[in-house]
Amino acid sequence: MTIRKPKSREWGMSTRVIRSVTGGGAAMGPGGGTSLTAPIWQSSTFEFHRPEEVADAATATQPETFYTRYGNPNFSAVQTALAELEGGEAALVTGSGMAAIMLVFLGMLKNGDHLVSQNCHYVGTMKALESWLPRYGIEVTMVDQTDLDAFADAMRPNTRLVMLETPTNPTLTITDLAGVMGIARDHDAFVCMDNTFATPINQRPLEHGIDLVVHSATKYLGGHSDLTAGFVVGRKELIDELWLAHIIHGGISHPFEAWLLGRGLQTLPFRVARHNSSAMAVAEFLEGHAAIERVYYPGLASHPQHELAAKQMDGFGGMVVFELAGGFDAARDFTARLELARRAVSLGGTETLAVHAASMIHARLTPAQRAEAGISENLIRVSVGLEDPEDIVADFERALR
Ligand SMILES: Cc1ncc(COP(=O)(O)O)c(C=O)c1O
Repeated sequence: MTIRKPKSREWGMSTRVIRSVTGGGAAMGPGGGTSLTAPIWQSSTFEFHRPEEVADAATATQPETFYTRYGNPNFSAVQTALAELEGGEAALVTGSGMAAIMLVFLGMLKNGDHLVSQNCHYVGTMKALESWLPRYGIEVTMVDQTDLDAFADAMRPNTRLVMLETPTNPTLTITDLAGVMGIARDHDAFVCMDNTFATPINQRPLEHGIDLVVHSATKYLGGHSDLTAGFVVGRKELIDELWLAHIIHGGISHPFEAWLLGRGLQTLPFRVARHNSSAMAVAEFLEGHAAIERVYYPGLASHPQHELAAKQMDGFGGMVVFELAGGFDAARDFTARLELARRAVSLGGTETLAVHAASMIHARLTPAQRAEAGISENLIRVSVGLEDPEDIVADFERALR
């Protein structure tokens, strides 16, 4: 069984993604008709007629039908779609974004290697860099992501990997992809980039020479807040190497999750276009409001790195971050007054989500620790959803009164 692959490189992006995941002709029913949508291959193992066929599958790289930890037709479909979207040769779907990130760290690095990262990343990535990698003898140097000289100074002869994330969670700071790439190439280091916030619709890091792209597919790629998954994308030889680590680490996706992910991916370009335009509308409204001290949105001309963002991104994404006058209490009370936006972590779904970082995500840290991590007491992070933008703005306007 093979999911039918796109026939023509001439097809546009949406066509290729839809053809990758709908699997036309993949499964024939008893009446002879074939299912239009891909079936869910809810099987942990696959049967073969001849013993040699089992042996062939057992020794193949990424066999689609052998044993689901090794591969599954539902995995192949979304892997093809994401490789198409990112412009990569191959992709690997994982059980979560963190599974993808840890797969890259543990699959690419060994005891004695050195990694250079930004000093601001998604909190789970930060914990991996600060607490887990040193346990395996991997040294980490964190640098200011806006300072190319700091990246250059941090490189050592044993630097094997540079880890990037842009725009960064939560402050939407931008890293110069081409600039860091040039430095890493001079030192023969690989570069991995977390593209979760931008999505491949807004930013395709492989086009800048980045070696590996990781995603939390839990967010925009799935797009409906109903699944947890991750991806690694890149050159086939690197993905094949990581697959060998993946089947040992075991952080795999599952057929139903992958099927849901395929459903979400088909509408990604349309959803992201709406997230982009609605987020811009929210950012512009907030920037003009007297109760707002500062808005962080790379699409605003006031963002200190707006020009860099415009150079390397096709759109600015659905995340808007702002600081509210009145400090901790004012920001917490603002989120309590929201009626349309929901108070929940995560991002990239159909519904608008708003979190007060200091009281909801980083409540366990002291104010001093939060300040050190760059999280101000009045910072609110919004994942702008797909509702009517006027309703989202009206909700914010009312809660600010
Ligand atoms: C930028 C970024 N990377 C990675 C992750 C981790 O993804 P997951 O929760 O799917 O493991 C997240 C989660 O919020 C994220 O925001």
